Amino acid sequence: MSSAAHPQRDATRRPLVAGARSPALRVVELACRAPSVRNSQPWAWRVDGTTIELHADWDLLTSSTDPTGRQLLISCGAALHHAQVAARGLGWRPVVSRWVDGAPDLSRRHERLARLDLFPSEATPESAADLTALLQRRTDRRRFTSWPVPEEHLRALCASARSRGSLALPIHDPVDRVRVGHLLSRARRLSRTDPPNPGSPVSWAGPVPTEDLSDGLVLLCSRADDPAAWTTVGESLGALWLSAVRRGLAAVPLSGVVEVAETREGLRGSVLGDLALPQLLVRVGWQTIAAKGVPRSERRALADVLLPRDVPGTASQDPASGPSSHPTGHKVP
Ligand SMILES: Cc1cc2nc3c(=O)[nH]c(=O)nc-3n(C[C@H](O)[C@H](O)[C@H](O)COP(=O)(O)O)c2cc1C
Repeated sequence: MSSAAHPQRDATRRPLVAGARSPALRVVELACRAPSVRNSQPWAWRVDGTTIELHADWDLLTSSTDPTGRQLLISCGAALHHAQVAARGLGWRPVVSRWVDGAPDLSRRHERLARLDLFPSEATPESAADLTALLQRRTDRRRFTSWPVPEEHLRALCASARSRGSLALPIHDPVDRVRVGHLLSRARRLSRTDPPNPGSPVSWAGPVPTEDLSDGLVLLCSRADDPAAWTTVGESLGALWLSAVRRGLAAVPLSGVVEVAETREGLRGSVLGDLALPQLLVRVGWQTIAAKGVPRSERRALADVLLPRDVPGTASQDPASGPSSHPTGHKVP
């Protein structure tokens, strides 16, 4: 297909950073638009031709609020999701191998999580629309309008999240919503005001999100509570969020309630009936038509998130030998 016939592809093929010319680098650049806890962007990438490796960067862990690295790996999972969206939107077919298995090895700064091999393909209207949503996505911490979010939208968002492997539940029931409201307030009282991650070049910006009764609430959960499940939750978060953007919905994760052990337990027991583990609560809603867009948040320079090809202890390995390779490209946590 000629580029003239594909304006979307033309726009997204333009590098966001001068010098980023290869398709794989453009994919990485776009993947870095993914949401991350406290905008820590705790990832690093190794690019070799049309192969991309995603690594977690443990130097960017906020151990006071994320001692196990759960939110760090959710953020990396979101970046992995966005890398796939970027590749497809740019006309590539990504084949993903995952290595997340067992406990993270915090003794090494970088931990390889996944590999994407890009094969030539064609962008479709669907993949182009997802890529547009990726570019439009922002965390919106403002109050939403009182227009309720219809149940079918929430169901569709949950279906997108589930398609990437995690559980996702809309919180409709009035009693559950009251319980969640109490747990959110309790978490705010209990949590310390956390300073920006000192290791992060980009500070934690924005006021505490404000919830309202009309807001949509979706709880991302999993059966396991391990690195593989957390990364999968991140991929689901990415899918849910782009699905929200495509419907014109604004979104913001509310991680405080799952950061505080007591309120996380409360969600698990009183809202999930001990059937699943809460991983992240997401608030969605409508912004007023007249509302200005939320400015794009900062990102680390591309050069700062790229690993050289020969860093000791992080060399490439055959994806087929990875413990978490999955023929469907997805793992159910
Ligand atoms: C695991 C995770 C937890 C997050 N928790 C919160 C939160 O509690 N409150 C909030 O306002 N934003 C939260 N965010 C959103 C990030 O702050 C946001 O993605 C980051 O600042 C980058 O901004 P952007 O999403 O507009 O690109 C979270 C994001 C992730 C991935």
